[in-house]
Amino acid sequence: MEILETKNLTKAFGALTAVNAVSLAIEAGSLHSIIGPNGAGKTTLFNLLTGTFQPTSGRIIFDQKEITGTPASRIAHLGLARSYQRTTVFPAFSLFDNVWVAAFATGKSWKGLLYREIDSYSEVAERANLALRDVGLEDKSKQLAREISHGEQRQLELAIALAAAPRVLLLDEPAAGLSPEETRKMVALVRALKGRYTIVLIEHKMDIIMSVSDRISVMHFGSLIAEGTPAEIQKNPEVRRAYLGGVAA
Ligand SMILES: Nc1ncnc2c1ncn2[C@@H]1O[C@H](COP(=O)(O)OP(=O)(O)O)[C@@H](O)[C@H]1O
Ligand SMILES: [Mg+2]
Repeated sequence: MEILETKNLTKAFGALTAVNAVSLAIEAGSLHSIIGPNGAGKTTLFNLLTGTFQPTSGRIIFDQKEITGTPASRIAHLGLARSYQRTTVFPAFSLFDNVWVAAFATGKSWKGLLYREIDSYSEVAERANLALRDVGLEDKSKQLAREISHGEQRQLELAIALAAAPRVLLLDEPAAGLSPEETRKMVALVRALKGRYTIVLIEHKMDIIMSVSDRISVMHFGSLIAEGTPAEIQKNPEVRRAYLGGVAA
C-alpha cells in the first residue's frame, strides 16, 4: 500500500518549472530513492512534501489523506519528518537536549503534556534516548552539539528527525560532505533504519543508491523520466543519457 503519493505535482519559480507534473507512489515500508543530476528538482520536491513550499498545482496524499496546502508545522505532526541540515541543531545544547526538544515539540499532544504529570516527560526523554541510540550516539548524549565531529553532527540531525517518531523519513543527501569513513557509517545507519521506517532518500552517490534502494525514481529537469528497481534503472538507456549528458554522478 502507498503511504505517500504525489499526483501531477508541479512547482514553478517564475519561468522555471523546478518540479514538473511529478506523480510518485511510495510503498509503505520501502526505501525509495530519488536520483537525478544537480538542479533536477529533487530538493524542491522534498520542500513540497514537507509543506515548506506550496505547489503551483497537483496534489500530495499522505496515508490516504490529501495534505496539499497543509503548513509545514502541521506536516511534521502527521508523521512526515525530514532530516534538516544543521538548521535544527542548537550548538550549545547537549545532544540529549537537542533530541529532547524535537521529541517534545512533535509529541502526539504536546499541549496535553503540559497538564499531565511529570511522568509524561519521561516518555519524551525515553523517545530522545532511543533516537540517540538508533544513530549510535547514546554514549555522547551529555556532550554539546558543537563538540562532536562533522559526521556525528549529521547523525544528530538524523536523530532529531527520528525523535519526531515519523512514519516517513525524508533524507536529502545524508552523506554529502562526509569522509569515506563517515559515509560508511551513515550508509550502515540508513540500512539499519530500513524496514522500520518508510524512507525516501535523495543521494548522489550511485553505489549507495544501488545497494540500499528498493525502488528508484529518476528526475531530470523537473520531470520523472524513469522508475524501477536498481537493476532496471542501471540498464535504462534514458537514465544513462540523462547522466552522461548532465552532471556526472
Ligand atoms: N526558492 C527557489 N527560488 C527559485 N528557484 C529555485 C528555488 N529553489 C530551487 N530553485 C531552482 O529549481 C531548480 C531545482 O533545484 P533543486 O530542487 O534544488 O534541485 P536538486 O535538489 O535536484 O539539485 C534549480 O534550477 C534551482 O535553481
Ligand atoms: Mg538538492
